[in-house]
Amino acid sequence: MSIIEKAASRIDQQRQAAAPVPAAKSADQAPVADSAAADAVTAQPVAAAAAAPASPPPAAHPQAARGGAAPRVAAPGAATPGRQSTRKVDLDLGRMRDLGLVTAAGGRTNLLEEFRIIKRPLLKRAFAEHKPHENPSNLIMVTSSLPGEGKTYCAINLAMSIAMELDHTVLLVDADVARPSVLRTLGLPAQRGLMDILLDDKLDLSDVMLRTNVDTLSILPAGTSTPRATELLASSTMNAMVTELANRYPDRVIIFDSPPLLLTSESRVLASHMGQIVVVVEAQTTTQHAVQEALRQLDGMGNVNLIYNKTRDIPGIEETYDYHYG
Ligand SMILES: Nc1ncnc2c1ncn2[C@@H]1O[C@H](COP(=O)(O)OP(=O)(O)OP(=O)(O)O)[C@@H](O)[C@H]1O
Ligand SMILES: [Mg+2]
Repeated sequence: MSIIEKAASRIDQQRQAAAPVPAAKSADQAPVADSAAADAVTAQPVAAAAAAPASPPPAAHPQAARGGAAPRVAAPGAATPGRQSTRKVDLDLGRMRDLGLVTAAGGRTNLLEEFRIIKRPLLKRAFAEHKPHENPSNLIMVTSSLPGEGKTYCAINLAMSIAMELDHTVLLVDADVARPSVLRTLGLPAQRGLMDILLDDKLDLSDVMLRTNVDTLSILPAGTSTPRATELLASSTMNAMVTELANRYPDRVIIFDSPPLLLTSESRVLASHMGQIVVVVEAQTTTQHAVQEALRQLDGMGNVNLIYNKTRDIPGIEETYDYHYG
């Protein structure tokens, strides 16, 4: 049994021991985590997923917003209704493709296929009905135990892959506020962002959010670095802002690129806002101990998923690529 299978099966056992059995649902409403957890120990370790038992703090859900029943949160720093970000940046899609990132310009590639597999259960859960006390499932955080395991790479690819869907829009948030790298990876200069709206209540989300030449993709940069980052991420302002982000557009998925779990406290605080968490595990590098520790940090958080990243040279597969399943 691989490290991931063991980790996933551990969470699954905990879930079964601790969680109440959910009410039966129809096939397309069935909790994704359940089927994804099955994937974790069977065919698709790349997009493995397992649900953790408890539920994080209360927040409204996009379903409720769709039905008009969700409370509108007057979030300081949240975008004024109807006000659109006027700032736009151009992503260099050719450069992104050369860096091995998902782009619509890249044609049908293995990478595209892999992220299609990874995003499917996340999207299914993001727009499935869920309990009112659970965090909105369209808030998805990408994290890992240690630096360099591929969080930013996976967050950008996941965001691009979802942005290519006709039915969804994506906001990619650089929440690695101490060492932001989304803009740098995309070849864009640093800009004001998340930290600035949490620090300055006169700033509006629309002042710092960036629209891109991929119509369905927007970016919220990390913004100005501050030693108060953890406290700001834990603030009621942040809470109101993520609730607003989650509920403003019913078709929107928000992907948070995050710091490593074992080195910073920011990641755990961020995780407490999320409806789904993706933990990136670097093949042949992340130790079993690190994975277990990372998962322990997430104990009690719902919907923890695993991505097995940077796998190579599977015997019997002619093409070699950096990110695959099997
Ligand atoms: N599947 C992959 N295939 C090829 N290169 C990859 C893959 N995943 C990550 N990389 C490369 O590995 C390096 C580290 O990735 P990335 O910056 O995404 O890691 P990170 O976990 O975000 O690091 P940090 O903790 O420093 O933010 C980058 O150069 C990235 O392009
Ligand atoms: Mg990163």
